[in-house]
Amino acid sequence: MPVVPATSENLDRAAALLRRGGIVAFPTETVYGLGANAFDARAVARIFEIKARPAFDPLIVHVSDEAMLERVAENVPAIARKLIAAFWPGPLTIVLHKRTNVPDLVTAGLPTVAVRMPAHPIARTLIERAETPIAAPSANPFGYLSPTQAAHVERMLGDRVDCIIDGGVTEHGVESTIVMLEPQPALLRHGAIPVEAIEASIGPLARDLPDEARPLAPGRLARHYSPRIPIRIVDDPARVPESERAGAALLAFRAPVPGYFEARVLSAAGDLREAAAHLFEYLHELDASGASRIDAERVPKDGIGIAIMDRLQRAGSR
Ligand code: TXA
Ligand code: MG
Repeated sequence: MPVVPATSENLDRAAALLRRGGIVAFPTETVYGLGANAFDARAVARIFEIKARPAFDPLIVHVSDEAMLERVAENVPAIARKLIAAFWPGPLTIVLHKRTNVPDLVTAGLPTVAVRMPAHPIARTLIERAETPIAAPSANPFGYLSPTQAAHVERMLGDRVDCIIDGGVTEHGVESTIVMLEPQPALLRHGAIPVEAIEASIGPLARDLPDEARPLAPGRLARHYSPRIPIRIVDDPARVPESERAGAALLAFRAPVPGYFEARVLSAAGDLREAAAHLFEYLHELDASGASRIDAERVPKDGIGIAIMDRLQRAGSR
């Protein structure tokens, strides 16, 4: 089954595929996910194969309600309940104690499982109808740009998945924020929900934990989310010498600069949420434009701007 619209019949078919061990790409409010039944180790293994994802990189398990959460996690602490009440459904992933029935492949052997309840109605309906938690990484080859529309998934992985559900362009455009709570509340990945919002609910989060204190989380690998062509961050594109603009592409924050081979503007209004929603879409386009390099203009580091800069820095890291 190729790319299909999100009709009720197609969601039924996709849910049946998932129950039988199939792989279904579907939209969430952050980016497109590549889903498999979280309890089916063989199906989960196919996700790793399709993405060429290293087995040390654990997946996020998606649930459609709290009863489903209880099937994958146990001893959920009170502080997690508080986060759930405040941010679910939505782009917050919480690391919890895993139940033994969750295959080790899903969690890369960790005693914990990362869980989130997406807010996107198509994702929710699909998980509900599959009647099983869905393990789903972003639907891109490992290390490459994340997909924010069905066409991105089709181009990158179309021949390898059983079905791609088209839900249009994703709302946030960057992945969920990831937190762990024990032994201490800590931020594992910047994402669509600003850290300040989480801290307003449960108090301070430790950040930049030393390597020994955090589980392997490749969303924090130095190089990740990368286009094929080189990308570098620039403070002010207008000050890049003209000779360096020729042949290169510009990912501008608010306004284009002449002399570039190709350019995209993240948000003319300077709206960081709009910028995040366009980030991967424009990077995909610039990567395919024939330019030799991307100059990405720095955006203000507040709210979701922190997640944007996190993605750009990793994308450009060598
Ligand atoms: O917005 C999102 O979160 C998207 C959509 C599809 O839901 N998913 C996503 O998945 O970004 P992925 O595979 O690209 O990122 C999963 C990351 C891992 O790389 C790791 O950093 C973290 O989640 N993770 C998963 N399980 C974990 C665990 N038990 N402990 C710590 N980190 C974990
Ligand atoms: Mg990813």
